[in-house]
Amino acid sequence: MNAEGRTGLDRMPEWNALTKHRDELGEVQLRRLFAEDPRRAEKYALTVGDLYVDYSKHLVTDETLRLLRDLAAAAGVAELRDAMFRGEKINTTEGRAVLHTALRAPASAVIEVDGENVVPAVHAVLAKMRDFADRVRSGAWTGHTGKRIRNVVNVGIGGSDLGPAMAHEALRAWTDRDLTVRFVSNVDGADLHEAVRDLDPAETLFIIASKTFTTIETITNATSARGWLLDGLGAGAGNEAVAKHFVALSTNAEKVAEFGIDTANMFEFWDWVGGRYSYDSAIGLSLMIAIGPDRFQEMLDGFRLVDEHFRTAPPEKNVPLLMGLLGIWYGNFHDAQSHAVLPYSHYLSKFTAYLQQLDMESNGKSVDRAGRPVNWQTGPVVWGTPGTNGQHAYYQLIHQGTKLIPADLIGFARPVDDLEPRLVAQHDLLMANLFAQGQALAFGKTPEEVAAEGVAPELVPHKTFRGNRPTTTILADALTPSVLGQLIALYEHKVFVQGAIWNIDSFDQWGVELGKVLAKRVEPALTEGASVEGLDPSTSALVARYRAVRGR
Ligand code: F6P
Repeated sequence: MNAEGRTGLDRMPEWNALTKHRDELGEVQLRRLFAEDPRRAEKYALTVGDLYVDYSKHLVTDETLRLLRDLAAAAGVAELRDAMFRGEKINTTEGRAVLHTALRAPASAVIEVDGENVVPAVHAVLAKMRDFADRVRSGAWTGHTGKRIRNVVNVGIGGSDLGPAMAHEALRAWTDRDLTVRFVSNVDGADLHEAVRDLDPAETLFIIASKTFTTIETITNATSARGWLLDGLGAGAGNEAVAKHFVALSTNAEKVAEFGIDTANMFEFWDWVGGRYSYDSAIGLSLMIAIGPDRFQEMLDGFRLVDEHFRTAPPEKNVPLLMGLLGIWYGNFHDAQSHAVLPYSHYLSKFTAYLQQLDMESNGKSVDRAGRPVNWQTGPVVWGTPGTNGQHAYYQLIHQGTKLIPADLIGFARPVDDLEPRLVAQHDLLMANLFAQGQALAFGKTPEEVAAEGVAPELVPHKTFRGNRPTTTILADALTPSVLGQLIALYEHKVFVQGAIWNIDSFDQWGVELGKVLAKRVEPALTEGASVEGLDPSTSALVARYRAVRGR
């Protein structure tokens, strides 16, 4: 059955079976589930590539998982997945194929869009990126004055920023430490100011990353960056200087040329790569320069490994499917509104921010693919920061608050290689915290256990932990480029599974448009003399106040 003709999710027998099952199950006690099945920990764990995924601390039984898989089958998840991998235009509102998986396909693969195999073009761009990255890293690519490039500034926003910025942070230990790589996204001039204030223009390369090359924040920052460069290089510097210090990553050659960047210095990608799925396309150029082409390829191989797993693993062993279904269980059957992603790695400090765009821009929708309002909850609020910082901030609410917050705990058995010995020793403490949190969230502490410690009766309720807070623990040996690729692909496909079940278009983002249009309308009103007519009374009062402060 096609998406448009699909029965409403909440009218499917498989949905009703889950509702009934939830009611029969009542309040699930993880202590009891573990006591009843001594093999639960090993039974409810899967391995994909280098990732060991423990889902035993979820409020589920064999029956729950079976019913969830039935729902996925009835909702046509596998069919939609296969259509995506084949290059069909499953992004129906934009009439586009969804082929981020082609970005990591081997050169021998054949994946067609409108009858044309896209794989050769993917590999041609990768080869061009490799060549350029090598030249920058070796010093063969010099700036306008002949000086070697020592600083790379990526200018982009959303998917043209978050992916490379997150991955650069995640793989910092693998980067060339002689290169400074920074990311500018915010239209707040402070962002560019802080990024370039200590840099020598003669040694700085700007990578202007924009799929459309029309995004106002990026074009504004790129224009200011060009001014900063030309002012810094001094008299005589013009277009030939821009050619040595600016490259573009885009699908829009016309706009790139209009901006003044030679299209010979443009690294192309295609409309079948969504912005939030784009960092293993040309959008990853700054990352490739930082970690080198070989490490970048290892990362792509990590993505591919999980793509293959998602495409071929049976439902009971399919990790992205399972993660997607667990999210459905809590969001649709237990009223969970949010999902916490809590990496126990400082290097993953931007990981959750990256996932926010991936998940919330994809699945923050309230009409189905045929445009009908949905009667069910869709994408959760995704949030979180690295442990152990969060433990001293918001974990209190996860442990003892009134809200159910399923969480992913992500950790690595080994620290990165270049830590000095006394810092390596801290890794055990970091990981002990991860394991302890999962344990405390799941099993809590009963009033009897608290009282047995001699706690005063009036404090017992305060010190009691109800437990049954569900977590998935993802454990890998180490945070390598390949493991990062595996992790990201895991979440990409998890998001896919959920969007497929909710019958929404996970690949458009119309919801960001209105604000953009209104900003263009409001901006002239902020400047002297421009009329504020047509603004609503609240906005008009705010604008008046702003103008008064700015003396306009
Ligand atoms: O405004 C949202 C968005 O369209 C994202 O989807 C995208 O990643 C971002 O803007 C940046 O777009 P572009 O790469 O075209 O500059």
